[in-house]
Amino acid sequence: MGIGYGYGKVILFNEHFVVYGIPAIASAIDKKTIAEVKKCEGKDFIIHDDREATPGYKEEKLEQQKESIIRIKKAMGIDDCIEIWLHGDLKAASGVGASAASCAAIARAIADEFGLNLSDERINEIAYEGEKAYHGSPSGIDNTCATFGGLVWFIKGKGMERLQIEKPVEIVMGDTGIVANTKKAVAGVRERKEKYKEKYEQIFNEAEKLAYEAREALLKMDWEKVGQLMNKNHELLQQIEVSCKELDFLVEIARENGAYGAKMTGGGLGGYMVALTPGEELQEKVAKAIEKEGFYALRTKIGI
Ligand code: MEV
Repeated sequence: MGIGYGYGKVILFNEHFVVYGIPAIASAIDKKTIAEVKKCEGKDFIIHDDREATPGYKEEKLEQQKESIIRIKKAMGIDDCIEIWLHGDLKAASGVGASAASCAAIARAIADEFGLNLSDERINEIAYEGEKAYHGSPSGIDNTCATFGGLVWFIKGKGMERLQIEKPVEIVMGDTGIVANTKKAVAGVRERKEKYKEKYEQIFNEAEKLAYEAREALLKMDWEKVGQLMNKNHELLQQIEVSCKELDFLVEIARENGAYGAKMTGGGLGGYMVALTPGEELQEKVAKAIEKEGFYALRTKIGI
């Protein structure tokens, strides 16, 4: 039996903009997907997906998941039939890098089962191939976080640079419970970017400037500034129409309850938002406020 893991992630700055080469900042979180893989009799693969999930997520993603496994096997040159079990403490939901975490975990578990000695760089490339089934043409930020972990500065095509902060900081991630389609969200931005060229150019320029300010504030651990910039980033994401009323609502709840900043995270149109809540007391207050409204709140940290 081969075993492998992949981290969940949170994008702190510039999802969507990252698809067009603008720098983004993301962090792995302390939740993982674990895959176990065993050679078996039969054709292609058998999958047992035992992850906890947002209702409807697994059904909605099933075809993409199947295509993703075929892509991973092909990239690894594996023809044998494999049986796969997925579990771990990362809830399968939109916006938290669940698909990328499963791709990295499966790639590692296959490598383990077949005795392939693969570097993390190679696992990352294979996970990227798997991610294409979910995203079409992903920037690579999700599989990079899923594979390597840590807090990262990421530029599409150039890869990642690790950002070091002295100590991890608390965040809350609130799940709208809406299963979102990242492929569709990314395609929507592309369409509108073509249509409203000037307006989008301006927004994209702001996003680029913001990335550098955010990097500096994060490295200084200036949480007030990081929070303000997250709020600003949410506005830009609203302007490119990838937020939704449920995400805006949870962002508002988090801010009203003292979060330093809050924004949607990931593909948007549902899925998760993230709130910056330094210290366990504030984290608990914001998480409870989200739960009181009937939503799932994940308490975790960035910079782990
Ligand atoms: C999805 O987690 C992040 C997006 O920027 C897509 C991508 O980077 O491939 C929306």
